[in-house]
Amino acid sequence: MQYGYFDDDAREYVITRPDTPYPWINYLGSEEFFGLFSNTSGGYCFYRDARMLRLTRYRYNNAPADSGGRYFYLRDNNASGSVCECNAGTADIWSPSWMPMKSKLDRYECRHGMGYSRIFSSRNGLAFSQVSFVPLRDTCEIHKITLTNESNVDKNVDMFSFVEFCLWNANDDMTNFQRNFSIGEVEVEQLADTSRIYHKTEYRERRSHYAVWAVNVPVAGFDTDRQAFLGLYNGFDHPETVFKGEANNSVASGWAPVGSHHIKAKLSPGEAKTFVFVLGYCENPQDQKWERQNVINKKPANILMDKYGSPEAANKALAALNKYWEDLLKRFTVEADDKKMARMAGVWNQYQCMVTFNMSRSASYFESGIGRGMGFRDSNQDLLGFVHLVPERARSRILDIAATQFPDGSAYHQYQPLTKRGNNEIGSGFNDDPLWLICGVAAYIKETGDYGILDEKVPFDNDDKLADTLFVHLKRSFDFTVKNKGPHGLPLIGRADWNDCLNLNCFSSTPGESFQTTANYESGVAESVLIAAIFAFTGPDYVEICRRTNRNDEAEYAEKQISIITEAVNQHGWDGDWFVRAYDAYGKKIGSRECEDGKIFIESNGFAVMAGIGIEDGRAAKALDSVKEHLDTKYGIVLLQPAYKDYHLELGEVSSYPPGYKENAGIFCHNNPWVTIAETRLGRGNRAFETYTKICPAYREDDSDLRRMEPYVYAQMVAGKDAPRHGEAKNSWLTGTAAWTFVSISQYILGVRPVFDGLLVDPCIPSNMKGFTVTRHFRGADYRITVDNSAGVEKGIKSVTVDGIAHAGNVLPVFGDGKTHDVVVIMNA
Ligand code: BGC
Ligand code: NOJ
Repeated sequence: MQYGYFDDDAREYVITRPDTPYPWINYLGSEEFFGLFSNTSGGYCFYRDARMLRLTRYRYNNAPADSGGRYFYLRDNNASGSVCECNAGTADIWSPSWMPMKSKLDRYECRHGMGYSRIFSSRNGLAFSQVSFVPLRDTCEIHKITLTNESNVDKNVDMFSFVEFCLWNANDDMTNFQRNFSIGEVEVEQLADTSRIYHKTEYRERRSHYAVWAVNVPVAGFDTDRQAFLGLYNGFDHPETVFKGEANNSVASGWAPVGSHHIKAKLSPGEAKTFVFVLGYCENPQDQKWERQNVINKKPANILMDKYGSPEAANKALAALNKYWEDLLKRFTVEADDKKMARMAGVWNQYQCMVTFNMSRSASYFESGIGRGMGFRDSNQDLLGFVHLVPERARSRILDIAATQFPDGSAYHQYQPLTKRGNNEIGSGFNDDPLWLICGVAAYIKETGDYGILDEKVPFDNDDKLADTLFVHLKRSFDFTVKNKGPHGLPLIGRADWNDCLNLNCFSSTPGESFQTTANYESGVAESVLIAAIFAFTGPDYVEICRRTNRNDEAEYAEKQISIITEAVNQHGWDGDWFVRAYDAYGKKIGSRECEDGKIFIESNGFAVMAGIGIEDGRAAKALDSVKEHLDTKYGIVLLQPAYKDYHLELGEVSSYPPGYKENAGIFCHNNPWVTIAETRLGRGNRAFETYTKICPAYREDDSDLRRMEPYVYAQMVAGKDAPRHGEAKNSWLTGTAAWTFVSISQYILGVRPVFDGLLVDPCIPSNMKGFTVTRHFRGADYRITVDNSAGVEKGIKSVTVDGIAHAGNVLPVFGDGKTHDVVVIMNA
């Protein structure tokens, strides 16, 4: 069943009942300040780093799910008869966003849009509207609340706001209570036209930032101490203060600082009142921290409130945000009969790509914001999905990532966004990492034509003394694979490759030991066919880059290396009906008919065919047919079969998962588009589109009770056929699936693909797709590309016209003239 619908004109997903099968969230924020926002106003916000600078507290894995957020409680003092079991007399008390009280609402709707969310609800004639967003270039959330009396009697309403502050370091905040219960500090300011609560824990010592929770009206009272507001033994669903109807004016000292404003509003029939709440991060220069002893300098908070503290100002900021998204999404649009595809490719998939750009794998409802930062491999792949939207930011992202590379070409596996320095917290020595840098840089150059990036001086190991050009970084990446090969001439896997769970040198038998950082047996033998395939796929881009920058000797050398590795795949990476996955520390095959479990894996097959291996002699088609036969399901392609029944010391984490989940035969969506792309290489548009739609969330909207995750975003994993909950998704939002599905649909199925010389148009679509129109911004011009498939083919082009004139070939030239060019492509076999 469905819990909402897509409003395509508004670019919103409209959730029509609050009890979604899992919290369905959105992201607020585009640059430095971000909020996670669920359909019941749950979530939290942070400045730049979800671990180090978290403003509000959020308890993961909580019961009930998703408690904690920016809450507003309403109390209608003369409702006829209380509906709640409380001593509130005739007052009626509820949560207009449903949570945390799970209140019965006469009307409820949540609209998640591009960088903003709205909640509308009403109860007993009192309508509530909340618009929440982070304004462009500022460090705050705005929550604009409107109360409307839709009844025909006067209403005497109390509204209580509520946020719970996090003591900045989210990890410490959840663990170090012996200290934390004594350090909480706040300040309160009540002025004629605004009321503000300042959270200033640790400001007296080494921090020069504080949080402000402000509203643009005077208040009847406030609370800043959690116990005073809720009552010690109450949850968010039963705040004592709201039931009492009067704030305590508590000033927190230690324990748990919160922010609650008590606002009284009298509303005659038809009357509406709007309040603007601002939840902001404020920073002062070290020498201007204080106004006087113990009183913080409020200047940055004043600036925020002066700027946003009125309904008009909030509306203006929201309009600017809407314009920002409008302009971004103009860069790639799709019109097609298949609305699900069009809305995903044209809007939601790109939106998710921007979110992964901003978050990498740090903060979602599955990533705690504490565990992981920006991944080297992940961020390079994410780039494939957003480089067309924000090429300049992609450029600086590339330079940040490259700076965490080691001089030998290998890399820190992740870095923290705040420091941009690599760290070993989730390990290093993943031997696929270096190649993703080539992949990311090539995508950037194809998009922009900016070869100048190759001359940028970039540190190695974040050390300026070790800086060299980005080109040298690429060479080190390339050579890392060349220099680290095993007995079959295939690349050594190191700690693992793209599949973080193929820990072939780990040999862990100690419970709880990290699979990602442990190496109990450095075999120097375990090899990866996938890395070989990535090398064969991305190597030719390196060759092109060399050629186009007059490095012809290097190009020749690189070509030779690619053919050597390809030959090793041909010799040792082919199993008869599909590609082998790897060789373990004993030199035994993984992903082969010789194995009992894990006979066939998706990754090496998808990527080898993407790289063109085996196309000429039919092995590629055979490999993809084997994938279909052994790995395909109704909900997508599982990662391997048969699932590992037991834990294998020599395989590591992949065999640690119960069958059907995660890397052990789950549908690990990230690698499904590799098969989609591979299918397009063979011209099989029907099958390519089938693999695309199976994991595409919009096609499973009706099936939300099983799928559970948001129908507008991809999830990392869907339970595979061996799992009891086959079809159930987990880990939505922060996944490489976003970028790769966008690449697969936009560049390979619809076939509009930036190449070094221009914009290639090479569709590979289902034969029953009559055609489509894509507009694409590319190197300073817009291309309006209409593809006509009345011939009903899967691939092949009969003619191309550009601005009415016949065009030879299907690479559109770089116009760079700021104009729109009309391109008509007629397909035919
Ligand atoms: C997960 C992988 C992930 C890795 C990152 C593992 O537990 O299964 O999907 O890449 O952790 O640390
Ligand atoms: C998720 C990780 O973020 C990514 O780096 C990895 O490739 C996949 N899991 C597969 O293990």
